[in-house]
Amino acid sequence: MISKKMSDSLNTHMNLELFSAHLYLAMSSCANEMGLKGAANWFFVQYREEMIHFMKFYTYLTDQGVIISLLASKAVPNKYKSLLEMFQKTLAHEQLITKCINELSEQAVQEKDHATQIFLQWFVTEQIEEENNDRDLIAKLKLVGDNGHGILMVDAEMAQRVFVAPVGSPLAV
Ligand code: FEO
Repeated sequence: MISKKMSDSLNTHMNLELFSAHLYLAMSSCANEMGLKGAANWFFVQYREEMIHFMKFYTYLTDQGVIISLLASKAVPNKYKSLLEMFQKTLAHEQLITKCINELSEQAVQEKDHATQIFLQWFVTEQIEEENNDRDLIAKLKLVGDNGHGILMVDAEMAQRVFVAPVGSPLAV
């Protein structure tokens, strides 16, 4: 049993996860246009991870008997001056997501909704990794600055990222 207030909040966040997927898919195409194939791969993997996050909310809500609402998505930015700017925007976006997850967790605690508290725990942990990945890459990109060779080295590292669907994932696209 989930309250209407809780399911509405989760539905709103589910749409934000879908927006995240679109944000990173657009960044992947921007990186590709810059000639940074490794970064394009990194953001494409991130897009796929966000689709998993979206589907986790979708599955949880439908399992609770909720009819989900897909909201109109706002336009996704697709103009960036540099890879560093993309990662600074990515970190800021992930910090917003962390704040939203924390607010959802707080609401679940207030409503004594134990199932939703347990569901959200995965996301609380996931956000630590998401922000940490972004901080690491920002630090590296600041170290190399405008040095093309350095940027290509970071790009080559980003080419190594591989998408791994979580066990029992509702979506393996
Ligand atoms: Fe779904 Fe990047 O948080």
